[in-house]
Amino acid sequence: MLSLKNLADAFDQGRKQFHNLMSSRDSWEYEVKEHYDGGHDNAKPVNRLVKSDNLTYMKYLIKEKKMAGKIKLIYLDPPFFSNAKYQSSVQLQSDKVGKSRLYKVPAYDDRWSDGLAEYLTMLTVRLMLMKELLSDKGSIWVHLDWHGVHYVKIIMDQVFGEKNFINEVIWTYKSGGSNKKSFSRKHDNLLLYSKSSKYDFNLLREKSYNRELKPYRFKGVKEYEDEKGWYTVVNMKDVWSIDMVGRTSKERTGYATQKPEKLIGRILEASSNEGDICADFFSGSGTFGCVCSRMNRQWIMCDSGGPAISDAVWRLSGQEGCFEVSFNGKGTEPWFGVGSLSWKLDKDLMVLQEYKLNEQYIPVKEAEEMTGYLEKDSLSLIKLWSIDMNYDGQVHRPDIILTKGQRSAICSGKKGSARIHVAGYDVFGNRFEGSEE
Ligand SMILES: C[S@@+](CC[C@H](N)C(=O)[O-])C[C@H]1O[C@@H](n2cnc3c(N)ncnc32)[C@H](O)[C@@H]1O
Repeated sequence: MLSLKNLADAFDQGRKQFHNLMSSRDSWEYEVKEHYDGGHDNAKPVNRLVKSDNLTYMKYLIKEKKMAGKIKLIYLDPPFFSNAKYQSSVQLQSDKVGKSRLYKVPAYDDRWSDGLAEYLTMLTVRLMLMKELLSDKGSIWVHLDWHGVHYVKIIMDQVFGEKNFINEVIWTYKSGGSNKKSFSRKHDNLLLYSKSSKYDFNLLREKSYNRELKPYRFKGVKEYEDEKGWYTVVNMKDVWSIDMVGRTSKERTGYATQKPEKLIGRILEASSNEGDICADFFSGSGTFGCVCSRMNRQWIMCDSGGPAISDAVWRLSGQEGCFEVSFNGKGTEPWFGVGSLSWKLDKDLMVLQEYKLNEQYIPVKEAEEMTGYLEKDSLSLIKLWSIDMNYDGQVHRPDIILTKGQRSAICSGKKGSARIHVAGYDVFGNRFEGSEE
């Protein structure tokens, strides 16, 4: 259990870390490695997806990119202090071997060796960075559940000020388990705070069904009828009933804890306008960016995990909206380039040959069984691959994007002596790349 004294210490620790970080000379470089055109209309800004710990990336945005005070809306869906390890489901598929079983692949870890105090310190320093980035008209939505929300509410009151609390929105859903010793836990909590009293807020409206679904016929009250019955239209309440991303949902990526697009759409609608810069620094499978692109918001997303970044690229590259992917560490992290893809180019036809990945990078408990499958068809590990026919040696700008199962492509747009460059991600989130003259 966390005493009030421990809570105060955790907060102080976070505040110290923030000041040390901001006053230290350490800086990080982020290199753009991929540029997805998304039918780019030059009038529209380029969106950013970044693989990094959000701490260093937010400092970089503030210090190097002069982004303090520029972001209108920040949504964060951090680990919830659930003491669990999250996994994505992966299934290999091959014409030669058929479908594999479903494998569980690590996505991210929400276990804290020093308990709640460590978790709250981690969040405090990040919330302070987010406050720097928010514009005076901006707001922040912190998505949590019963594990940590009550402690984080106190931290939010310290960082953003009690008077800037706007709402606690309850997102309720049907899915998930239950037990016999408690009521079924069927909601998450979203804390909404502003940076100042000048915040933008678009009031949303919703249907409110009449008792017995019959008309009231009150004087001056407009009533409507649909297939369910009679209703009035009222200001939206702070309890939102939205389905989770179910197993059969079209949105589903397989990423653990993926949030529904409808929920994100509502948040964007309430706290931002077209053209605003909006950010999600715990972006997972990229739900936030997908909805932003559709709603004409400029977006920044960051996640420290390879599986998250690969899912987001896979999702975003299939829709409109230009974005760039950056990495720090100049590609020296273990996930970068551990696998290698080979191909044959016969005139204009590129045919994939093999994907080599050392067994130590197969992060499933049935690694031996999977290796047997891969001996018959190693290409079934490829999640997404793309071809840049005129590679400039720095940024991969794909002309053709292919997904799982697509193993050849016509590449006829190469200019003279330009280099062809292939890059992509495997189902574990490892990135690979390679080129040929
Ligand atoms: C709950 S998930 C986000 C899910 C996301 N909203 C979606 O719809 O897919 C939390 C994410 O935070 C990421 N994460 C955890 N700590 C991080 C950190 N320090 N910096 C960046 N990302 C982090 C994890 O990798 C994970 O993908």
